[in-house]
Amino acid sequence: MIEHDVVIVGGGLAGCRAALEIARISPQLNLALVAKTHPIRSHSVAAQGGIAATLKNVDDQDSWQAHAFDTVKGSDYLADQDAVAILAQEAPEVVIDLEHLGVLFSRLPDGRIAQRAFGGHSHNRTCYAADKTGHAILHELVTSIQRYGVKLYDEWYVMRLIVEDNQAKGLVMYHLLDGQIEVVRAKAVMFATGGYGRVYNTTSNDYASTGDGLAMAAMAGLPLEDMEFVQFHPTGLYPAGVLISEAVRGEGAYLINSEGDRFMAHYAPGKMELAPRDITSRAITREIRAGRGIHLDGSAGGPFVYLDLRHMGRDRIMSRVPFCWEEAHRLAGVDAIQQPIPVRPTVHYSMGGIPVNTDGQVRRSADQLVDGFFSAGETACVSVHGANRLGSNSLLECVVYGRRTGAAIAQFVQNRKLPDLDQQRYLAEAQNQIQSLLDQPGEYRIAQIRQEFQDCMTQYCGVFRTQELMQQGLTELQALGQKYRRVYLDDKDKLWNTEIIEALELQSLIAVGEIIITGALHRQESRGAHSREDYPQRDDAHFLQHTLAYYSAAGVDLQYFPVNLSMFEPQERKY
Ligand code: FUM
Repeated sequence: MIEHDVVIVGGGLAGCRAALEIARISPQLNLALVAKTHPIRSHSVAAQGGIAATLKNVDDQDSWQAHAFDTVKGSDYLADQDAVAILAQEAPEVVIDLEHLGVLFSRLPDGRIAQRAFGGHSHNRTCYAADKTGHAILHELVTSIQRYGVKLYDEWYVMRLIVEDNQAKGLVMYHLLDGQIEVVRAKAVMFATGGYGRVYNTTSNDYASTGDGLAMAAMAGLPLEDMEFVQFHPTGLYPAGVLISEAVRGEGAYLINSEGDRFMAHYAPGKMELAPRDITSRAITREIRAGRGIHLDGSAGGPFVYLDLRHMGRDRIMSRVPFCWEEAHRLAGVDAIQQPIPVRPTVHYSMGGIPVNTDGQVRRSADQLVDGFFSAGETACVSVHGANRLGSNSLLECVVYGRRTGAAIAQFVQNRKLPDLDQQRYLAEAQNQIQSLLDQPGEYRIAQIRQEFQDCMTQYCGVFRTQELMQQGLTELQALGQKYRRVYLDDKDKLWNTEIIEALELQSLIAVGEIIITGALHRQESRGAHSREDYPQRDDAHFLQHTLAYYSAAGVDLQYFPVNLSMFEPQERKY
């Protein structure tokens, strides 16, 4: 059995920042990081537009309180305000720390870190590295943890979280290279496994964003919080769905419909293209539904609108958002200096996740924690984003709460012993699971079920939702769960068998989808990204509370718990 003081699952920003903090505080600890890709290829590397912090480099009127207010208003008042206050207060310090690590931020002429406008923020506070901010930060973090000697298990897929008697004791992992299965025990386990964009068929997320950590926590009997809140980023490139950063609008681009109208004037006149993402995604979807979308031949009535950068000019485009220009050119054949970019909403981010307190300790219920289990980043719900996240707050959350969680773990493992666990039992169960996948005759290919599942979630639980649609979606999804039992693999080998990973990922996706849709069915109001056409108003009297969803083979059980409202009273949300 492999043993470590601490094992972190996930090599993105939150996992690496936590590892760095643990190593800085207690360099003698035996620390491991497990990731299903190499950490440099974690989805954080794809983050583009920036990281928010009130450095006041371009706007000295900014303050952490203004950042906190924007975040809470953006969240449609579902964010926990104690957690938001920490996020906004600690932001400048964590960004300066990144600068000291060597992150190549874009600069003002006087050498200070540049800051740009971003959706829903009332001041220009988003620090950036052109439109490759995640790339710039992740590279420095990965280099730093390697320098500290953190043991990396890359291309190991974690199959199971081991929780016994309310204590996280370790995990079971599978090596893509040769099919080896190992049980790892540790004094503390942290999940920083990112999001689940692949639950949907159009997403900005990479192929690895399959919600594995969420599903493993749920299958270990732990709740997931606020999973009904799925963020659609307004400007996914059509048809690929990859991200065209909000930074493009932050730098001045317009959204226009088939009539050449800057339609955001009808939806958010005070913010225009820099309205929060839920509002902008709904506006684009409404324009398309009303026949003011555009076809590839330029005619009206099509499935996308235009993002128009032409007035920004070559120099601004190529210096501020060169990667977005490149994506549009490479994937859609569009030269954004001369032509508008076709865009439509694409699934981007999970507001919900594994419930944690502000030290990253996982909750079993509203008032009980799980011993030795921690989480941070997109896979966690602390909750700083509530019902709708503001752009550039997610990298910030990873770094602020990655650091805090790392510090809490370093403290937690002091004077603790490794837990007892029955290695043989967990090994045998995992080996049987893999062998059954390889042996079962089955009827369906993985890709077929995955496509049907993604289509189901997209059709029945998208930007706009109704009871009738989601009920239908849930029924179809449960039938797909049955079909999954009859999946078959073409590759029967143990060496580099990516089909085994895909089969395990599909199981995660289906569980996460069922949790999303069940939470959405029961939240009979519209709040942030959860927009019910049959319940169009926010309903604070009944739903100003967090959902906790408990998954089991019998279905999903929901409980609710209160929101922390320590700073701002809920108000009507207008932009
Ligand atoms: O549009 C973007 O660059 C995305 C940023 C974010 O999700 O925070």
